[in-house]
Amino acid sequence: MTKRKSDGTVGPWAREKLDALGEYLNFYTTVLKNQAHWCRGTVFVDAFAGPGKSKVRAIPKSSEPKREDFFDDVVPMTDDEEGDEFVNGSPRVALDIKNPFNNYFFIERDPQRVAELRTLAGDYGDTRKIVVKEGDASAELLAILGSKANWSGYRGVIFVDPFGMHIPWSTLEALAKTRVFEIIINFPLGMAIQRFLIRHGEIPANWAATLDDFFGSPDWRLHAYESSDTLFGSDTVKLADSGKRLLEWYLGRLKDAFGHVSPARLIRNTQGGHLYYLIWAGPHPKGLDGARAILGKGDEVRAPRKRPTAKR
Ligand SMILES: C[S@@+](CC[C@H](N)C(=O)[O-])C[C@H]1O[C@@H](n2cnc3c(N)ncnc32)[C@H](O)[C@@H]1O
Repeated sequence: MTKRKSDGTVGPWAREKLDALGEYLNFYTTVLKNQAHWCRGTVFVDAFAGPGKSKVRAIPKSSEPKREDFFDDVVPMTDDEEGDEFVNGSPRVALDIKNPFNNYFFIERDPQRVAELRTLAGDYGDTRKIVVKEGDASAELLAILGSKANWSGYRGVIFVDPFGMHIPWSTLEALAKTRVFEIIINFPLGMAIQRFLIRHGEIPANWAATLDDFFGSPDWRLHAYESSDTLFGSDTVKLADSGKRLLEWYLGRLKDAFGHVSPARLIRNTQGGHLYYLIWAGPHPKGLDGARAILGKGDEVRAPRKRPTAKR
């Protein structure tokens, strides 16, 4: 259903995401450095790591891609042509912070990107402890969680940056239960979720199952659609503010699961189109202070004080 890009580039908006990530990771490891007496180790997991470095697309305004073209916004690098601009992907951003993590895990499903990540790990030699895992993000995250009987005394950040709805809610709940891990997550409202929420509400069963898994509840329907009675019977229509309602509901669910949630920072394309939101969630108020300062910049949406009531 989606035309996938394969020209080895990222949109210029990737920088905003990567800058916010780097800023937060710097904040996090600096705070923890001062608490080293009790911290047994720090962990960074990049659950959708990408290739590690990508070429930035030059986009003349008139030919900027339409929303469906953003579905695959990072693809492996091609040749380094002279004059091209490259951006370090999230793995390098995390590796290059001032006070590095003790352990790095990079998860990636695409074999070519995995090979690039292994080369990247080699570039850092013994200076960083890096494990590259080829496989599905959710399965590998659960395997990492299961790899230690006792995580107490550890602290970690997990970056969840998929193209679409590729992280089930149940996996986020498992991470939250540890009270060790924080997440920074890409909520792909413009890139994936709205594409599934077709206007008349008759969503194919496999799309509905994806939405159920992603939200961890079938109640997304109540935030996205309403039924009205017409002369010809009951009619289902999409709510005009479905995006805002779904985001607020998801923020509330993250807050319930993790304890704290930041405002959601909107990432737009160069024409102002909405792509996705970056959200932090975690168990500690100090983390929230840092995340709020970073993700509270620019466009943002906050978790409602009172949970939004779904229209029935
Ligand atoms: C948006 S890109 C990641 C970009 C990277 N975080 C960055 O900022 O540099 C998403 C990546 O996830 C990978 N991917 C997609 N589905 C996956 C899955 N189920 N498990 C692991 N990786 C997946 C894709 O191959 C792609 O490289």
